Amino acid sequence: MDIVAIIGGTGVYDPAIMENAEEQVVSTRYGDTRIMVGYYKGRPIAFMPRHGGDHSVPPHLINYRANIEALYKLGAKRIIATAAVGSLNFEYKPGSIVVVDQFIDFTKSRIPTFFEGDERGVIHVDMTEPYCPELRQVLFAAASTTDTGVFNRGTYICTEGPRFETAAEIKMFKIMGGDVVGMTTVPEVVLARELGICYSTVAMVTNYAAGISPGKLTHDEVVACMQANLVRLRETITRAIEQIPSQPGCECGQVPAGIRVK
Ligand code: HPA
Repeated sequence: MDIVAIIGGTGVYDPAIMENAEEQVVSTRYGDTRIMVGYYKGRPIAFMPRHGGDHSVPPHLINYRANIEALYKLGAKRIIATAAVGSLNFEYKPGSIVVVDQFIDFTKSRIPTFFEGDERGVIHVDMTEPYCPELRQVLFAAASTTDTGVFNRGTYICTEGPRFETAAEIKMFKIMGGDVVGMTTVPEVVLARELGICYSTVAMVTNYAAGISPGKLTHDEVVACMQANLVRLRETITRAIEQIPSQPGCECGQVPAGIRVK
C-alpha cells in the first residue's frame, strides 16, 4: 500500500500515532533527510517535522527539496502537511481549521523547483488547483467530526519569514483575497506537484494576523494555540488516513510525460 506522509509544522513534532516506528535516513542530491516510518492501523505512514524536532530550522532555511524528494524516494503518494497560520478573515477565528485551496506566493529566497535545466530539464507545472482536491475533501470531512470551526477553502498567503508581517502587509494581503498567512506552504506544495504527489495543508489558525490582532504577535502564542488544539489535529489526521482511498481519484499524479526525477 502507498505511504501517506505527514509533514508536521510548528507545534507538531512527534509521530505519536505511529506503530512500529523507526527512523530512516534518506539521501537525496540536496542532502539527507531523517524520516520516521511506521504504520497506522496497518497503513504505512511516514512523519517528518518540518522545522526539525526542536523547531531549530526557520521557514526560509528549510531544505524543502531534500524533504520532498526524500518522501518521493520513500514511496509517499500523499502528503498531509500541518501549518500554523495567522488569520485575515474574521470568520476564521483562532482555533479554526482551514483546509486551504489556494496560495499566493510572497517568498523570496527559496528554490521552487527540482527542474533547473540540468539533466532533469525544465518544466512549468500547472498550479490552477495546487492542493489535491481528493485529500482536501477527506481532511475536511475528518476535521468536521472533531468540532465546529472547520472550513474547506481559504487562500494561504505564504511569506518569507521568519519575521511576522507588518500591519500594512496584512492590509494588502487582505485586499488581494488572502484568508490566512503562514511561511511554509511554498515551495512544499509546488515541489510535491512536480513529483506527482498529492499534497494538502491542514492549517490551524493560531492568531489574528498583525494589525488585526490587538497586540504584538509572539511565537509562544502560536505554539500555545497549537498545543491546545493538538489532540484535535491528531484526530483529524488519523481519521483522514483511515478514509484516504487506496487508489487516488485525482489528477495530481499526472505529471508531464517523460518527467521522472532520476
Ligand atoms: N504570520 C505568519 N506566520 C504565522 C502566523 C502569522 O500571523 N501565525 C502562525 N504562523
